[in-house]
Amino acid sequence: MKQDQIEQKTDSIGIREQINLASSRLHPGTIDLLAEMYGANELYGTNGNGLVTVNKNVRITVEQGAMMHKLMRSYSVRRSLEIGFAYGFSTIWMLDALQSRRDAMHVAIDPYEKSHWHGIGLTQVKRLAQKTEFEWKEDFSIHALSDLIRKGEKFDFIFIDGNHRFDDVIVDFYLSNQVLWSGGLLVFDDMWMNSVRAATNFIVNNRSFEVVPQPVENMLVLQKTHYDNRDWDHFISFEVLGTAKITKSPPPLLSTVTNNIARLFRNLGKSF
Ligand SMILES: C[S@@+](CC[C@H](N)C(=O)[O-])C[C@H]1O[C@@H](n2cnc3c(N)ncnc32)[C@H](O)[C@@H]1O
Repeated sequence: MKQDQIEQKTDSIGIREQINLASSRLHPGTIDLLAEMYGANELYGTNGNGLVTVNKNVRITVEQGAMMHKLMRSYSVRRSLEIGFAYGFSTIWMLDALQSRRDAMHVAIDPYEKSHWHGIGLTQVKRLAQKTEFEWKEDFSIHALSDLIRKGEKFDFIFIDGNHRFDDVIVDFYLSNQVLWSGGLLVFDDMWMNSVRAATNFIVNNRSFEVVPQPVENMLVLQKTHYDNRDWDHFISFEVLGTAKITKSPPPLLSTVTNNIARLFRNLGKSF
């Protein structure tokens, strides 16, 4: 066995214990799979070109996966959706929580799953022992969610972990909300980011969602309390975090300059 293989094996033994401690309800085959995934420096994708080096920052933590798993089980979730598939860490936790639920299904949206992530998430889903209906949508969240809205699809658990810019998070929220049952859970990753915190501050202050208390700081769990019934002009200010970047006043538009010259010429009795 090569040194890096020995290291990966030792890693996965420690992580196995961590996973076992964090979640007692995972199926045995899933524990093996997650331990290997969290311990690995390289994983197989779908392109048949052998092992691919993984970026260990691109995944939810064991603590977070275990909390999402617990929430999905205690809320008896049958239909879940996630934005941001990548290597499939969150996907495996979520699929395991759906196992043994009748008519369960999970949708993962990610336009870059094959082109950027080498299909590693798809490979891990195939390795999962028990099969739950699973669909990968190779599309941007705006398009995939709009299609689901048109089809009248509904979900009871949605995990938002796609593009993390403020406006992308807001749009993902806006569209996800329309396919979320009242009473359903909406989960945001990466609460360390000001963009995500500002977006969720808007939601908590303006929309019919309540915070579900849970201990994982990097994640926010919201429960939809009822459908949208705000007046057309409803708006409650919310805290925007981080220092604002103040730009200097923009130069006057060319049309403003031309208009001013035209006025001057008119005043002088000349045409322009
Ligand atoms: C942090 S990773 C997701 C990690 C994954 N949830 C996990 O825990 O294993 C973010 C993912 O969002 C995807 N993404 C970026 N922009 C997106 C968009 N507009 N729609 C859907 N997915 C997007 C990226 O390709 C990337 O795979």
